[in-house]
Amino acid sequence: NVLILDFGSQYTQLIARRVRELNIFCEIKPYNKLPEDLSAYGAVILSGSPYSVRAEDAPHPDLSEIKGKKPLLGVCYGAQYLAHFNGGSVEKSNTREYGRANLTAISGTEPFFYEITDGSQVWMSHADTIKTLPENTTLLASTHDVKNAAFKFDGEDTYCIQFHPEVYHTTQGKQLLENFLIHIAGLKQTWTPDAFVEKTVAELKEKIGSDDKVILGLSGGVDSTVAAVLLHKAIGTHLHCIFVNNGLLRKNEFEDVLEQYKGMGLNVKGVDASARFLDALAGESDPEKKRKIIGRVFIEVFDDEAHLVEDAKWLAQGTIYPDVIESVSATGGPSATIKSHHNVGGLPDFMKLKVVEPLKMLFKDEVRRVGASLDIHPERLGRHPFPGPGLAIRILGDITREKVAILQEVDHIFIQGLRDWGLYDQVWQAGAMLLPVHSVGVMGDERTYEKCVALRAVESTDGMTADWVNLPYEFLQKTSNDIINKVPGVNRVVYDISSKPPATIEWE
Ligand code: XMP
Repeated sequence: NVLILDFGSQYTQLIARRVRELNIFCEIKPYNKLPEDLSAYGAVILSGSPYSVRAEDAPHPDLSEIKGKKPLLGVCYGAQYLAHFNGGSVEKSNTREYGRANLTAISGTEPFFYEITDGSQVWMSHADTIKTLPENTTLLASTHDVKNAAFKFDGEDTYCIQFHPEVYHTTQGKQLLENFLIHIAGLKQTWTPDAFVEKTVAELKEKIGSDDKVILGLSGGVDSTVAAVLLHKAIGTHLHCIFVNNGLLRKNEFEDVLEQYKGMGLNVKGVDASARFLDALAGESDPEKKRKIIGRVFIEVFDDEAHLVEDAKWLAQGTIYPDVIESVSATGGPSATIKSHHNVGGLPDFMKLKVVEPLKMLFKDEVRRVGASLDIHPERLGRHPFPGPGLAIRILGDITREKVAILQEVDHIFIQGLRDWGLYDQVWQAGAMLLPVHSVGVMGDERTYEKCVALRAVESTDGMTADWVNLPYEFLQKTSNDIINKVPGVNRVVYDISSKPPATIEWE
C-alpha cells in the first residue's frame, strides 16, 4: 500500500491512477491529515502543490516518522519541501519552467533511473526552483533549465524530482514510478481486479451478518451495477435491489435494464414511480428546485420500499473514490455549489441503515475492470454516464409528460445512431436537450412553429472538465434529418459546441 500525501496539486489523482495502473494499491490523504498508524504503507509519495514552500501558510507536515524510515518520493512541491526544510534553498525561478524538458546527466548506476534513457522527456510545471541541494544529497539528473531536476538523500530511500512523473507527457513516468515502488520500495504488484473481487467478497461476508438484508438502489449505471454484483456474490438473495422509474429515464430504459438485471441473477424490484415524480415536478421550471424535488421524491419512494424489506440493516451505495477523496482545495475554502447532485450526499439519517460502499476506493476505470472480472456485459460497463435527475435536467423549463416523450424519442435516435455508426464508445457522454424555444419552419408547404433540440456529445475523463466531440458532419446531418422527420413537434436541431468550463455538460 502506498500513501500519497496531497498538497493540493491538480495532478494528485493522476499519481494515484499511475500507481494503481502498476497493480499497487494506494490512498490519497490530505497533508494535514497524516494517518497516525503508518505501518500499512510501504512507500510514501508527496504531491505537487499550488503553494510556494517559501510562503508563510504553505503546508508543513511533520514527516519525521516517514523520511529516512520509509521509501519516500517528493514530486515538485514535495521535492522542494524536502530540499527547503533540510538545508537546501528554494527560490523563485527566473527561467520559464513549464512544459516539456529532457533529462540529461542521468546517474547511470542509480536504480531510480533503471531503463530510463538519456534525454528522456519529462513535464515541468513550477514557478519555484531548487537552487542549492541540502547536504548529504546526491544530484541524479538535470535538464537544460533545471540543474537540480532529480536528487536523493544519501543513506536513505528518499528521492526528489522536480518534474511530474504522473502526467503522460513524461514519457517514461510509469517506468520511474515502477523503479521507485518496485525496485526501490520492493512493493508487490498484487492489486488486480480479480484479487479485489476475492478480497471484497470475503470482507462483505464478514461485515454483513448472515441474517441481515441489504438494500441497494440500482440506477442502471456502471457503479451501482458493479456494487450489486459484488454484494450478490457475497450474500446472494439477502441483497434486495430497488430500481426506481422516475419517469425521466431514457426510452425503454426501465424495462430493458430490469430485463438485463434479471439475466444477471440479481434480486431486483422495479418500482414505477413515474407519476409521483412527474406530478411533483408539474409547473416547476427552476433548475435547482427541479433537482431538489427529484431528490426528495426519490428518498420518499426509496424509504417506502426499504420498509417493505424485513430485517433490512444495510444500505449499499455505489460510491466511488473521486466522491470520497478529501483533496486539499487550492483556495482552502469549500468549492461553490454549481449544481446539487442529489445522490452524492447519501440518504438522510431517518432511514437508520448502516452504509456499505464496496467501491469507495476505486476509480471509474477500475470499477469497469472489476465489472469485467465479474463477467458483467461490456455494454453495461461501457454505458455513458446518465444523471440521477435524468431527462428533467435536459428539458429546460417546466416538465410535462409530452415533453418527456418527445425528448425520449430524440435521445433514442441520437444514441442509437451513435451506436450504429460505431461512435458510441468514442464519446464519454451524449444526450439531447429540449429547449424552451419555438422557431419557425416549413414542412411541405406549411409553416410550422415548433420545438428545438440541442444535441450534446462530450469527451472527458471524470466529468469535471469536458470538450465537445467533433462528430462527423455526415452523422450529424443524418441524425438531424431523422429527428425532424420522425419526431412530431420538433423542427430544428442544433449541436452544442461548448466546453466545460465555462459551460457544463448538462444544460441545467
Ligand atoms: P455537469 O452538468 O455538472 O455534469 O457538467 C457533470 C457530470 O455529472 C452528471 N450529473 C449528475 N449526475 N446526479 C448525477 O448522478 C446529478 O444530479 C447530476 N447532475 C449532473 C452529468 O450527467 C455529467 O456526467
